[in-house]
Amino acid sequence: MEPILRIENVSFSYKINEKTTVSVLKDVSFSVFPGEYVAIIGHNGSGKSTLSKHLNGILTPESGDVWVHNLNTKELINKREIRKAVGMVFQHPDNQIVATIVEEDVAFGLENIGVPRDEMQKRIDDALNVVKMSEFRKRPPHHLSGGQKQRVAIAGVLAMHPDCIVFDEATSMLDSFGRKEVFQLMRKMNSMGMTIITVTHRMSEAAEANRIIVVEDGKIVMDGAPYEIFKYKEKLEQLQLDIPTISQLAEIIHNHHSDFSKDMIHEDELINEVKRLTNGISEKVRYAES
Ligand SMILES: Nc1ncnc2c1ncn2[C@@H]1O[C@H](COP(=O)(O)OP(=O)(O)OP(=O)(O)O)[C@@H](O)[C@H]1O
Ligand SMILES: [Mg+2]
Repeated sequence: MEPILRIENVSFSYKINEKTTVSVLKDVSFSVFPGEYVAIIGHNGSGKSTLSKHLNGILTPESGDVWVHNLNTKELINKREIRKAVGMVFQHPDNQIVATIVEEDVAFGLENIGVPRDEMQKRIDDALNVVKMSEFRKRPPHHLSGGQKQRVAIAGVLAMHPDCIVFDEATSMLDSFGRKEVFQLMRKMNSMGMTIITVTHRMSEAAEANRIIVVEDGKIVMDGAPYEIFKYKEKLEQLQLDIPTISQLAEIIHNHHSDFSKDMIHEDELINEVKRLTNGISEKVRYAES
């Protein structure tokens, strides 16, 4: 299978002024394949947003290459195709809303790429439907909650029919309800076949991905399945990263009851483990009573 994204030996520095540059990405290479759900984690300032912005050509490498399908992000002529293929959702929903009516906001990107009127209407309807915002289509976005605004921003990206969406801390400004809405949407879109890349500080969100990439000081230091990555608790601590709350909780219980498995990262695994052991207890009680 051909990768959607190929990041090859990418280095990048910000130029602060004539004399000063800040080197951020240092020889980064990885590929992302269609249908993957990738979480990028790393502590503040490690270079995650800079890396994300390379994935659809907002930034281009100082050295090395980023290929979207087989289009190099450095070639200006590829810019439009690349923006169509890889959508971005950022942290602040307010900065992404451009129109005064929800459906006009979703239409904005489509107008830019010259989608015909009737096709545009269908795409807007479908996108608002997926994010469950159809009933708000005539409303002004600034009256919506943060989570609803973020869903409108996602609809705008979805309507472009991208192959891949990159979320850069897209849930971090939202309350727990809004976070859940956006997060469930990521899973839904991934189950519809879309490639999802999410930059997150929340290990419980990263645990939902199929793959986690850990960035430290502009380099990839770990890349693997969530179960594998979260086994390295001490290494993650050195990188100022946690393991998911569920894993922490399981470890605490395990330290008191060694029967209780500590190798888990998801809520349903914790619930099943509690059920397994409490069933065992009720079995024993029943046995003792009979
Ligand atoms: N526009 C810019 N100009 C100069 N330096 C920048 C710019 N944007 C980011 N940096 C610097 O580049 C480094 C990496 O920043 P980046 O935003 O990519 O990190 P991050 O991992 O996304 O951080 P956070 O977790 O806080 O979002 C930091 O040292 C930051 O100060
Ligand atoms: Mg960032």
